[in-house]
Amino acid sequence: MTSPVLIDQFNRRIDYVRLSVTDRCDLRCSYCIPEGFKGFEEPEHWLTFEEIERLIGAFARLGVSRVRMTGGEPLLRRDIVGLSRRIAALPGVDDLSLSTNATQLDKHAQALKDAGVTRLNVSLDSLQQARVEKINGRDVLARVMNGLTVAQSVGFAPIKLNMVALRGTNDDEIDEMVAFCMEHGFVLRLIEAMPMGSTGRNVEYMDLQPVKERLRAQFNLIDTTYAGAGPARYLGSQDGRFNVGFITPVSQHFCQTCNRIRIAVDGTAYMCLGHDEKFEFRPMLRGGCSDADLEAAIIEAINLKPERHEFNEAPHKILRFMSMTGG
Ligand code: 5AD
Ligand code: SF4
Repeated sequence: MTSPVLIDQFNRRIDYVRLSVTDRCDLRCSYCIPEGFKGFEEPEHWLTFEEIERLIGAFARLGVSRVRMTGGEPLLRRDIVGLSRRIAALPGVDDLSLSTNATQLDKHAQALKDAGVTRLNVSLDSLQQARVEKINGRDVLARVMNGLTVAQSVGFAPIKLNMVALRGTNDDEIDEMVAFCMEHGFVLRLIEAMPMGSTGRNVEYMDLQPVKERLRAQFNLIDTTYAGAGPARYLGSQDGRFNVGFITPVSQHFCQTCNRIRIAVDGTAYMCLGHDEKFEFRPMLRGGCSDADLEAAIIEAINLKPERHEFNEAPHKILRFMSMTGG
C-alpha cells in the first residue's frame, strides 16, 4: 500500500505544517506586532493540546511528516514541553522543530530536547543591544545570547539564526553577523521583510540579491544545496562548515516549491501568507467530528491553496500580522 500524500491543485506536495501555539509575544518586533496591539485571540479559542494532537495526527496520516511550532512566541504557551512531547510522539511525525525569539530558551532548552524537538530557529536581528531594543522592542540581547549558549550546550546543532534585513537599521551589520555565525557554528538566514499587516509594510524592505553576491565574493562562498527542502537559497564556505541562506519572498518568490500550510492558534489553517484562503478547524473539532471527517476537511482545505502570493502586486491585501498567522 502506498502511503497517502497531500497534493494541491498546482501539483505541490504538502508535507509540512507550521503550527502557531500562541499569538502572544514578549517582544514587539517592528516588522511584526505593533506596540500597543490589543487584538489577541481569546484563550477559549486556543486549540487545546487534545485538539492539536487530533488535528496534527490527521495531517500526519495524510503524509505530513514535519511540524514546526511557531508563535507569537511559542515558549509563552504553558507547558510547551508537554505539547512538544505529544506532537513528537504522533505516528508519522518525524521532525518537530521550533521557531523562537530565545528570550526564555535557557529555561526550556534541555526539556525541549528531551521532549523530541529536533531543530531550533532563533530570531536575531542585531548583535548590538541598543538596536535589539529598537528593532525588537525590548532590551533582551543578553537573554537571547544566554538562551543560544544553553541551547548549544544541550546539543541543538546546528541552530539557525534568522535575521530580517532592514535597510538603514541593521544592513550594516550583516557582515558581522556572518562572522559571528562562522565563529559560533550557527547557520545564518537573511530574510526579506514581507508586507504582512501594516507593520510589515512600514519597515524598510531591502532586496537581498545584491547582498548575496557581495557576501559570496567577500567571504569566498559557493552555492550549496544545504537543507534543500525549505525556501532559503544557500551559500556555503568551501570547507562546508558555514552556511548562509537567503529567504527572498519579495525579490524572488519561491511559491512553486511551497510545501506547507500554517495553522493559527485558533485552529484556522491559512493556505498562504499572502492570501485569505483559510479553513477553520476549531468548529469541527469542537462539534464532535470523526477522524474521517477531519481527513476529508484537510483534503478540501489543501485544494484552496493559491498558486502564489502577490507581495509585489498587492501588498495591501495582507491584513494579518505575522504573529497572527504564525511566522
Ligand atoms: N517579514 C519577514 N519576516 C517576518 N517575521 C515576522 N514578521 C515578518 C515580516 N514582516 C519572521 C521573523 C521572525 C519570525 C518569527 O517571523 O523572521 O524571526
Ligand atoms: Fe514576537 Fe517573533 Fe513577532 Fe518578534 S517576530 S514580535 S519575536 S512573534
